Amino acid sequence: MFPVDLKSDTVTKPSEEMRKAMYAAEVGDDVYGEDPTVNRLEETAAGLTGMEAALLLPSGTMGNLVAVLTHCGRGDGAILGADSHILNYEGGGLAALGSVVPLVADDCSGCIHPEEVRRHCRPSNVHFAPARLLCLENTHNRRGGLALSPETIRSSAEEAHLRGLSVHIDGARIFNASAAWNCSVKEYASSVDSLQFCISKGLGAPVGSLLCGARSFIDAARHWRKRLGGGLRQAGILAAAGLFALERNIDRLREDHENAELLGRLLSGGGVIQVEHNEKPTNMVYCKVPEGACADLHTRCAARGVLFNGVSDNRFRLVTHLDVSREQIVRAAEIILEEAAAS
Ligand SMILES: Cc1ncc(COP(=O)(O)O)c(C=O)c1O
Repeated sequence: MFPVDLKSDTVTKPSEEMRKAMYAAEVGDDVYGEDPTVNRLEETAAGLTGMEAALLLPSGTMGNLVAVLTHCGRGDGAILGADSHILNYEGGGLAALGSVVPLVADDCSGCIHPEEVRRHCRPSNVHFAPARLLCLENTHNRRGGLALSPETIRSSAEEAHLRGLSVHIDGARIFNASAAWNCSVKEYASSVDSLQFCISKGLGAPVGSLLCGARSFIDAARHWRKRLGGGLRQAGILAAAGLFALERNIDRLREDHENAELLGRLLSGGGVIQVEHNEKPTNMVYCKVPEGACADLHTRCAARGVLFNGVSDNRFRLVTHLDVSREQIVRAAEIILEEAAAS
């Protein structure tokens, strides 16, 4: 039963069956394009997103970075949400390595809406960094795992395209979004130029992300991946886990959403914790406690085997995934409520 690790869906460990698939993987040197399992994973990812081609990368961070560097040149502007993962948690890679200027936009609704896109597309003038790229995030991590609809994405993407920008989705958890909206990932991908998704989060693989787009874009992205040191050799061992994840673990994401819904309901029922509302929730639950109470609650719960991440002095996040059962969720909620009431 313990520990119940709700820090993130990145903590999942490969199952016995997944490990067997990895062991049995046929491999080759992927930098030469000779790893049949990587090639199959990339074709599968392209097929699932309806895009022409895909590229396996070691992480979501590198997937986003390679996308930005492929879309933008030195001094170009990329419109990023103030709460986006790319801006907040990826080490400033786009500025450090690409001299790309972050144009920070309001994404408090989870999306950067068309009027906000317009605001950042300033007239051509030597004083301004020209906006070249709009980056959206779905699901939106800091907005509580909110899933955006294909229509919401489309309206912002159309505005950006009208103004000559490319559009990238950081879809680390795009399969959670598609499960929440009961739509296919193709519906998201059809209105944008590139989409990155992670196999190492709720899908349960140990490593990897797929960047998807037009063939010419992916050819250029492959060059950037190599420059950044992300060209891997016998990566079929990892790709086999990704294929297994895409075949077996997409449909079950709904269970994680049900568990998150249950967890939120149990926690809000106790009257001591405020559970944040989310119009289209997925596998995350964000909670508020009185100012300064988060660190103490975190320590007390960790001592009883319930692990989660504090986001600020009074806010914490719980994430459900394939390595936590419904029973563990119920027990975790009891422990969190007991400790919150005692502190
Ligand atoms: C929305 C989002 N994008 C990108 C990433 C980066 O993925 P990685 O940890 O594989 O670099 C994460 C990781 O949690 C994420 O939540």
